[in-house]
This record gives sequence, C-alpha cells and structure tokens, in this order.
Amino acid sequence: MRGVILHGGAGTRLRPLTHSGPKQLIKIAGKPISMWGVQQLISFGISELCVVLGENHPEQVVEFYGDGSWLGAKVTYIYQGEPLGLAHAIYLTKECTRGEDFVVYLGDNVVLEKIDSLIKFKGAASILLAKVEDPSRFGVALVEGGRVRRVVEKPKESISDLALVGVYGFTQEVFEVIEGLSPSWRGELEITDAIQGLIDRGKEVTFSVIEGWWKDTGTVRDLLDANLFLLDRYMNRSLRGSVNNSVVEGRVVVEEGALVEGSIIRGPVYIGRESVVKDSRVMPFTSLGERCRVQNSSIENSLVLDGSSIEGVELADSIIGRNSRVSKSHRSSLVVGEGSVVKL
Ligand code: TTP
Repeated sequence: MRGVILHGGAGTRLRPLTHSGPKQLIKIAGKPISMWGVQQLISFGISELCVVLGENHPEQVVEFYGDGSWLGAKVTYIYQGEPLGLAHAIYLTKECTRGEDFVVYLGDNVVLEKIDSLIKFKGAASILLAKVEDPSRFGVALVEGGRVRRVVEKPKESISDLALVGVYGFTQEVFEVIEGLSPSWRGELEITDAIQGLIDRGKEVTFSVIEGWWKDTGTVRDLLDANLFLLDRYMNRSLRGSVNNSVVEGRVVVEEGALVEGSIIRGPVYIGRESVVKDSRVMPFTSLGERCRVQNSSIENSLVLDGSSIEGVELADSIIGRNSRVSKSHRSSLVVGEGSVVKL
C-alpha cells in the first residue's frame, strides 16, 4: 500500500496567502495542513509516499518533507505543474505506486477518522463520504446496497446529501480508466469521472460514511475552522519557552525559544518557536507561527503565520500571512497584496 499526497492546484480561493506558496504548506499549530494527513498515513503503516507537486513554489514542499526519513517515511516527488485535475495528478503516480493499491490524500484536506476503510477494501476503489447540508458545492455519491452507484461533481439537481471527502483508496485499475477520460467543462480530468468510469465498467466501488470532523481547507473560513478544531482537539499544555509575569490558562503550547511577558494567554493557543508575546491578550483558538511578535495587542480565533508581527491592535477571526506587519496608526496606511481582505 502506498500513499499519494497532492500538493498541486492553483489555490485561487486562498489568495493572497497562496501567492507565495502552496496552500498545503500553510501551518496550523506549527504543522503544515498536509502534514496532518501525512502523519495519519504513516500511523496506518503507509510510509512509501508519492508527493505530487504543482507549479506554485513546489520547491517549498521538497524543502519541507525532504526524503521523508525524518518522519520515518520514504518520499518520491512527481511534478504535475499546471493543475489539469485530480485524475491527471493521480495518473502521474502510475510508476510511483508500483503495482500496489494506494490511498490518495488531497493535501488541503484534514480527515481525522476512519481511514482504515481505505487501507483494506473490497473492489476497485473505496471512498469516504460525509453528510453535508449543501451538496451542490461537492462531488456527491449515490449509494445503494453497500455500493456506490453514481458519483457526480457539484450536482445541479439533488441526487444525494453524501459528499466525497478528500481521501480515496484505489487499485491500479483506475489508471486504465483515466487513460480514457476527456477533460471536463473546466478543462480538468475529474476524479469523479474516474470513479464513475470504474462503476460503468462494472467494477465495485465501496464506501464508508464518516461521522467525525473533516475539513477541505479551500477557503479562509475553512482554514479558521480547521485552526479552531485542531487546536481544540490536539493542544496539550506544554510551556517549553519562557513565561514571565503572565497568566497562562488552559491548554497552551509555548514552544522552545518563545517568550511570553506581561500577557494573558487563554488556551487552546499555540505559540511557535522564537515568537514573542508582550503586554497582550492571546485568546482561545489562536495559532502563532515561528518568529512572530505580538505586542500591546489582543487576538482571538486567528491564525498568524511565520515571521509576522502585530502591534497595538485588536484582532479576531483573522489570518495574517507570512512576514506581514499589522500595527496601530492614527491614520490607516496600507500595503495590501492582491486578493487581500481588510476590515478597518
Ligand atoms: P481544489 O481545491 O479543488 O483546487 P485548487 O487548489 O486549484 O483551489 P482553487 O479552487 O481555490 O483554485 O484542489 C483540491 C486538492 O487537489 C488540493 O489539495 C490541490 C490538489 N490538486 C492537485 O494536486 N492537482 C490538480 O490538478 C488540482 C486541480 C488540484
């Protein structure tokens, strides 16, 4: 069994955060989004990983994961470049998966439960489904008698409220189907067409419905939701950095080399290495990256990425991209990148 983790795609809905790197590397609680999936695969004994790279700074992915040995894995990279679709990305792993069954993980999805049904499955493929309120935003599946009968990408008419979650199990049979696919109206080889192709050939596609939390972190809202959930579920109190004259309540991580001074921190909160929090309030569901600075500020339910600083401001529900500065001034003076959202 091999693992395939997709790091391509354009990430247009997450601009400007994706101008300078792939969305799959945006860190929540010190970990890139795709690493939550990678570690899950490794915990299921899947350590031979094929990582598909896109055209948006692929070198950052290679730099981060390296050869995978530091995680106990072996990573092979495949360059997709232009986002020609999920099925196109999967097709490129034909050699890397070397005749074995494989699990495909969309690198911007976090699924924390039940992927064991994808590790051992009957049939040509197996998918994970979750009940959703707005099926028209997702690929959805019609199921009957324990099998998947039909899959449709973003259906106009309601056929089911079961959406496809971004982790899939495949056998090598999928490659033959993808060879026969044509691009969809949006110019992509669709994964739903590949799965439907298997069904049309009379192959069995099995499924499992998950009840627990999962997230496709394609938008800012989704990223903040993921930040909230992952902090809530995974933060354990650990103060490895320095804490002086401060009140630190609940599940708070202060990483090595970080400094908290004259502040109130209320968990769940994550403060990355070498970050400094001074005379501030850091309220629940806030994740600060490495080398961040928070001074005379209050921040809640937010994600601050590596190297950024905040001074003299009150922020909530915000995402601050890497190496950015937000500070108080009597008159607003802004340098805002393309696709930014600023509420003053
Ligand atoms: P999407 O979120 O559907 O596409 P996107 O990344 O282009 O985002 P946006 O719509 O905001 O422009 O992609 C789902 C996942 O699959 C994501 O992790 C990116 C990855 N992907 C590839 O690796 N190759 C591809 O060709 C495509 C389309 C997506």
